[in-house]
Amino acid sequence: MTTLRVELPERSYAIHIEHNVLDAAGSLVAGVVPAGRAMVVIDQNVAETHAQRVMKSLHSSGFDAASIQLEATESNKSLDAARAIYAAMLDANVERGSPLIAIGGGIVGDLAGYVAATFMRGVPLIHVPTTLLAMVDASIGGKTGVNFQTDNGRLIKNLIGAFWQPRLVLIDPETLTTLNDRDFRSGLAECVKHAMIADGDLFEFLEQHSDSIMARQSTSLQTLIERSAALKISIVQHDERELGQRALLNLGHTFAHAIESFNDLDIRHGEAVSIGLCAAAQCSVARGLMTFNDYARVVELLRTLGLPTRLAVAKPVNALMDAMRHDKKIISGTLRLILPTCLGAARIFNDVPAEVIERAWRSVAATDN
Ligand SMILES: NC(=O)c1ccc[n+]([C@@H]2O[C@H](COP(=O)([O-])OP(=O)(O)OC[C@H]3O[C@@H](n4cnc5c(N)ncnc54)[C@H](O)[C@@H]3O)[C@@H](O)[C@H]2O)c1
Repeated sequence: MTTLRVELPERSYAIHIEHNVLDAAGSLVAGVVPAGRAMVVIDQNVAETHAQRVMKSLHSSGFDAASIQLEATESNKSLDAARAIYAAMLDANVERGSPLIAIGGGIVGDLAGYVAATFMRGVPLIHVPTTLLAMVDASIGGKTGVNFQTDNGRLIKNLIGAFWQPRLVLIDPETLTTLNDRDFRSGLAECVKHAMIADGDLFEFLEQHSDSIMARQSTSLQTLIERSAALKISIVQHDERELGQRALLNLGHTFAHAIESFNDLDIRHGEAVSIGLCAAAQCSVARGLMTFNDYARVVELLRTLGLPTRLAVAKPVNALMDAMRHDKKIISGTLRLILPTCLGAARIFNDVPAEVIERAWRSVAATDN
């Protein structure tokens, strides 16, 4: 079994990555919290498959585990859904030391994490991520939260949240075999992002093993998850609360959030990130930070992994620029962008000229009107 450790000032935790680790969930959870009552929050799409294995293992290790199932939608990542979990925890007589175990993708992980952070001022959280994105990103680093619906119907993503580190993360790459292609590829976009930020070797690994990764071949997935998760760990360990270098993880995201703000585009977050990575790399070329050849490799890799590199429906540059300015990562009016400086390094820039960003938008098929 591969075990990575997240070392933080207050507490460190293990991330176990192994095929069939879910069948050992009970004993591994019992290694970090005493066996007793537990609440399991389950993404309904994995309830009959992966979650069954976890529940069985918990029961055989002496846990009295109650569960609640949820449909993983952004509108369900809400205070109402949190309330339903609090109520289920009360019904199950969960105590302060009882673990809350989240089984599913980033939606269930963020929501259950927020409940764990707030119920009785905090109960132990265990993540069992079942999407690639949740394995290499959402389950690591302690960001939890829910979306908020305003009175006029606007859904503000991740507005309400808390930092709450898990006690344990269990990753079984086997669970990815049931994930649909679009969600799998969305996770791959985050892996490419990690490689671009800090690991040129991981970028080459992705280039060289794209076929076996797309075929979800187990050894390739194991290596991809280990290396991509290790990268996220190294960043969050040095900047637990996103006061500095953790912002690098937003590479491509300011572009992606602008794309996602158009409700008529049927686009997954990872797909928007993929286009955002191309736009960010284009800015780097324009500023002389990156060679055109490296930019072309980024576009080619994303294409090979089945990800979009241009907008399917053209949008006006002005509207995209406005959406970018509304993104919360703007600090006192200047556009703060993370840009790659080569394949495997990125930096935060506070002074990217608007014309450079506009040209980058045009390179991913935005139009002038
Ligand atoms: N906390 C963080 O640091 C962080 C980081 C990145 C993203 N996020 C959040 O993560 C969320 C997106 O997460 P996601 O991409 O995992 O999406 P998701 O949770 O919506 O899961 C995608 C879909 O796959 C289904 N699913 C999950 N596992 C499956 C499996 N093994 N087999 C079949 N179907 C499965 C889900 O039911 C859902 O329909 C967003 O809300 C985002 O804000 C959080």
